[in-house]
Amino acid sequence: MVGRIFTLLPIKLNATDREFVETYLDEAGLFLFNQMSLFDQKHAVAAARVLATQELMDNRLNQRRLVQAALLHDCGKVKGEIAWFLRPLVAVIRKFFPRRREKWAARGESALSHALYVDLHHPSRGAYLAESLGLEPELVSLIKHHHDPLTGNQDPELVLLQSVARKG
Ligand SMILES: [Fe+2]
Ligand SMILES: [Fe+2]
Repeated sequence: MVGRIFTLLPIKLNATDREFVETYLDEAGLFLFNQMSLFDQKHAVAAARVLATQELMDNRLNQRRLVQAALLHDCGKVKGEIAWFLRPLVAVIRKFFPRRREKWAARGESALSHALYVDLHHPSRGAYLAESLGLEPELVSLIKHHHDPLTGNQDPELVLLQSVARKG
């Protein structure tokens, strides 16, 4: 029965979302986007659509880059590394037990420890992947800092990205 339900669930983005993604990302960007889980892809598309439709008054902002950053900000979470059934628990630990999260996070240990490790380090992992594939430095920086605490004197693109991207 459970297997039957899973076969009925969508396993990839719908055509409209896919077209949106392909409008903004080049080959390297699509490679990074494609290696995320459908859950993270949907979150990324939702975040990117908010930025794509916003009227930006500040001419320091590059809207296309912002949309690309929203699509790729979580690319450090590679598909299969955070089991779907652990996501709610990971979110609770992230929010309410940040110090335990750091203590328990461990690469390649139990499924939960590994999920916490990926969740904790996904900004720097994503930035590393993006840089390795030759994405522009500004985009790499946005990915790297999308969970950094804001100090008040930050890049306005980062502030805007964080407004749509920090939930995951
Ligand atoms: Fe994130
Ligand atoms: Fe996110």
